[in-house]
Amino acid sequence: QNKVYQETDKQFFELVQTLPKDQGWMIPTLVQYQGFWYPPISVFKGVLLMQNHFRSRPNDIFMASFLKSGTTWLKAILFATMKRDEFEFATHPLLTTGPHDCFPFLDSYICDSDVEALPSPRLFATHSAYSILPKSITDSDCKIVYISRNPKDVFVSQYLFVQKLRPQMLPPLTMEEAFELFCRGVSEYGPFFDHVLGYWKASLEFPEKILFLKYEEMKKEPARHIKKLAEFLGKPFSEEEEKDGVIEQVVKLCSFDNLTSLEVNKSGTSNFIPEMVVHNTNFFRKGQVGDSKNHLTPEMIARLDQITEEKLKGTGFTF
Ligand code: A3P
Repeated sequence: QNKVYQETDKQFFELVQTLPKDQGWMIPTLVQYQGFWYPPISVFKGVLLMQNHFRSRPNDIFMASFLKSGTTWLKAILFATMKRDEFEFATHPLLTTGPHDCFPFLDSYICDSDVEALPSPRLFATHSAYSILPKSITDSDCKIVYISRNPKDVFVSQYLFVQKLRPQMLPPLTMEEAFELFCRGVSEYGPFFDHVLGYWKASLEFPEKILFLKYEEMKKEPARHIKKLAEFLGKPFSEEEEKDGVIEQVVKLCSFDNLTSLEVNKSGTSNFIPEMVVHNTNFFRKGQVGDSKNHLTPEMIARLDQITEEKLKGTGFTF
């Protein structure tokens, strides 16, 4: 690997020793770096590499999200929308490639691969908070699309996801324990509310640069949001395309029902961090709004609603 990266290796090992620690969901420990919780593994080194070395190009496109907020779906939509001139729908790569293999998470990709070698326009994803992103991303012309989701569904989706991935040798994490951690803001890439509000505020300040989407609204009107997304990214659908139903084809290709019916998402895997191979089936569960009510107690719902109200007060944001 690049020689200049060795300094970051050193920084990584030193920081991991000294940063505040708390309990992880997928691995035993998280470290708190610049206000956010990271697993002290390669993804965290990737964040440091991104901060120290990443050089954006004006036409780079980033998608950002908190875990379990619709990352897989938005990756598919962005890929299908931005590459629509390159691929036919009948033989589309998304039919045989998992959404996570269509474009990488920058903070893991940068650990082992040469980001400079990727052709423009580059598509990158990140779970990192807005305040963590390097100036090369925030102060440049590249665009960011963020997807948010309501905290109750995010919590439940994340908890059930972790149940499948948490190594057997670790003691089990109960839903009550995870709920306490979530309420305290302790979870991979959390605090959740700081994450959402960081991008929300930045999207108000820089509306040309950051498009803020909501999972729930996308579920209601996917075509309208895909149209908006394409306009925002400077690749609007032409009248001809609209007439030919291209937007509807993107909606259909990326729909939960279609993606979950594909062999690659039934039996394939994604290996986006070296420490962890994830079966693609784990990225798809129900894909519905409000399923959390089937898993949370009335007390949990009331508590999370109250925390949400407090956190959002005065921000102008609602889920
Ligand atoms: P549920 O666990 O509530 O079903 P992420 O991709 O950020 O990890 O988020 C995963 C959540 O998005 C899961 O939510 C998953 O089912 C849902 N999801 C995955 N693909 C989707 C799609 N094509 N459309 C809608 N939701 C999708």
